[in-house]
Amino acid sequence: MNFQNLKYESRNHIAYVTINRPEKLNALNMAVMEELRTAFTAIKADADIRVAILTGSGEKAFVAGADIGELSKHNTVSAKEYTHVGQSVLDLIENLGKPVIACVNGFALGGGCELAMACTMRIASENAKLGQPEVKLGIMAGYGGTQRLPRLVGKGRAMQILLTADTISATEAHRIGLVNEVVPQGDLIKRAEEIAAKIISNAPLAIQFTMEAVNHGMDMALREGLYLEATLFGVCCATEDKNEGTKAFLEKRAANFTGK
Ligand code: COA
Repeated sequence: MNFQNLKYESRNHIAYVTINRPEKLNALNMAVMEELRTAFTAIKADADIRVAILTGSGEKAFVAGADIGELSKHNTVSAKEYTHVGQSVLDLIENLGKPVIACVNGFALGGGCELAMACTMRIASENAKLGQPEVKLGIMAGYGGTQRLPRLVGKGRAMQILLTADTISATEAHRIGLVNEVVPQGDLIKRAEEIAAKIISNAPLAIQFTMEAVNHGMDMALREGLYLEATLFGVCCATEDKNEGTKAFLEKRAANFTGK
C-alpha cells in the first residue's frame, strides 16, 4: 500500500503503521486520518494480519495532536463533521477485531493521546509525554478523550488531565494505567512484537470475540455484559479452533489454529 503520510509494511502476521510527518511531530490532519482509515480497513480485511503496531516517525513524537493549522480554520458545522470523521477512524481502530498495539515513542498529546487510547494497548518509551492540552487552545478533546480517558484512568484523574492540560511523563502514565508498560525507546517495537507473538499463537476468533466482549461490555450494565460474554463463549465453542485447542491440550501438543 502506498501512502503520502504513513509508512506501511507487514511481516510475520504483523502490520506496521507509522504516521510519517516528523517535521510536524506527526500531527493529525485530515489526509493522515483518511490514510489511517484506508490502512486499517485493509488490515481488518486481511486474514493473514493478526496484530497491528501503530507508532510515529522519528524519536520525538508519537502524535503531537490534531493539526492546529487545520483546526484554526473550522467553523461550527465543519468542526462537528471533522470530529465525527476523526471519531469514526478511532472507532475503526478500537473495534478492528484484531489487537492494535500503540508504541508511544514521544509526545502523545490531544488527538495523539486519544489515538493511543483507541488502541487495544499502549507501550510507551521512557521519553513519552502524554496529555490533553486542548483547553489551552480554547477547544476541548474531540476524538474521544472525554470518554476513553475516564474509562482508562478513572474520572478524577481524567478530569485533572483534561482540565489542567498538564503533560504527564511515561512513568506517571504507567502509574495511573494510561499505558501498559514503559521501556527504553530502542526496545519499543521489540517489546510490542513480543506481545504480538503471544497473541498470534492464540486462536484468532477467540481473540476477536474476547475483544468484542470487553469493548461492548464496557458500554453495558454488568448483567448485560455477562450475557454477552456467555453468548460469545457459546460461539467460540462452535469453532474448529475450540476442537483443535482442547484436543491439542489433551494430546500434550501445541495447537495448530486456523481461525475457523
Ligand atoms: N499541529 C500542527 N503543527 C504542530 C503540532 C500540531 N498539533 N505540534 C507541533 N507542530 C509543529 C510545530 O508548529 C513545528 O512546526 P514548524 O517547524 O513549521 O514551526 C513543528 O511541529 C515542531 O514543533 P515545535 O513546537 O517546534 O517543537 P517543540 O519541541 O518546541 O515542542 C510540543 C513540542 C509538542 C510541546 C509543541 O509542538 C506543542 O505544544 N504542540 C502542540 C500540542 C497540542 O496542543 N496538541 C493538541 C492539539 S488539539
